[in-house]
Amino acid sequence: MDFDVVRDRRGTASYKWERYGPDVLPFWVADMDLPSPPAVVAALESRAAHGIYGYSLMPASLVEALRDHLRDGYGWEVAPEWLVYLPGVVPALNLACRAYAGAGEGVLTIVPAYPPFLEAPGLQGRRLVTAPAARSGGRWELPLAALEAAVTPETRALLFCHPHNPLGRVWSGAEVAAVVDLCRRRGLVLVSDEIHCDLALDPGRHVPAATVSPEAAPLIVTLMSPSKTFNLPGLNFAFAVIPDEALRRRFVAAGAGLLPFAGCFAIAAAEAAYREGGAWLAELRAYLRGNADLVAAFVARELEGVTTTRVEATYLAWLDARAWSSARGGDADLAQTCLRAGIALSGGAAFGAAPSFARLNFGCPRPLLEEGLRRLKAALA
Ligand SMILES: Cc1ncc(COP(=O)(O)O)c(C=O)c1O
Repeated sequence: MDFDVVRDRRGTASYKWERYGPDVLPFWVADMDLPSPPAVVAALESRAAHGIYGYSLMPASLVEALRDHLRDGYGWEVAPEWLVYLPGVVPALNLACRAYAGAGEGVLTIVPAYPPFLEAPGLQGRRLVTAPAARSGGRWELPLAALEAAVTPETRALLFCHPHNPLGRVWSGAEVAAVVDLCRRRGLVLVSDEIHCDLALDPGRHVPAATVSPEAAPLIVTLMSPSKTFNLPGLNFAFAVIPDEALRRRFVAAGAGLLPFAGCFAIAAAEAAYREGGAWLAELRAYLRGNADLVAAFVARELEGVTTTRVEATYLAWLDARAWSSARGGDADLAQTCLRAGIALSGGAAFGAAPSFARLNFGCPRPLLEEGLRRLKAALA
């Protein structure tokens, strides 16, 4: 696949490309300006050609594809009945708040966080509790002590992002084991959003939380999806893996009457992606590693007062412009400054961070990324 080819997405009702005017290049919301695997396109064309788009079941063949993916990719043996279909991971974060915490009870998360982690507890009448991640040199660290200190007798669940958006960390097996241990000791349900797991940019790194120890599985609701991996977020397919029957029942009950049937295109695409997308995915990871390294080198060389850390997974770089902001009196807004110069980033405030932070989506053809980085430099000058 030639990922360098720039394809025009304007006029496709793209949230990323249509939100800002024609003069703005978008590097914000997390989808990629890269085509999905050819096998996915072929599966969708074939399904479309049938002409009848009725209600769909989760076919046994897709259940098998998901199980094979988890076994082959992560050594995780999953029983068919543990799988719960979902139209998206964000609805699942909200359902989990309802399912596992009562009104006014606490739901814990690490900040900065993908915004729905911060919004879901309040939207569902639960209380958000946060623990800030700390940067140690070139790396963001798991704030284990802060998580421990934040838990109160009313805290019921931890929304855990693994790998982490926006910090780009693939939490190590030891870090995940410590989180599992915390949840077990303090009686929390661990909701592990692993939507970015297949985009660990260094091979063999991601360890699903449910696999770290025999005690882990009964505490954990794992959320996964092909949408980031194969660039299918417009098709609305995701799934939960919930080994514990009681946790699964509570989750399904929270969603009763709210969740649609799986879409027929989502089903076709998901199965083709997991069954036939492996070679494409290997190429994509290598391409994204190249883009990540390009961003890191450019930030270090060209952007005074801005730093970033190594992206271990995802196509999202977390830019720390506190020094740039300090040089301008201390409250400069990185994303707003960039937007005025024709480049859209995701601003830090929505992630629970200062506005001197922003997230840059580098899931795009390299020529587009190079143009974005040029604009970024001009914006900060
Ligand atoms: C950590 C995380 N969870 C969930 C989502 C979105 O999931 P969905 O589109 O399935 O609701 C994203 C998208 O960026 C994400 O980064």
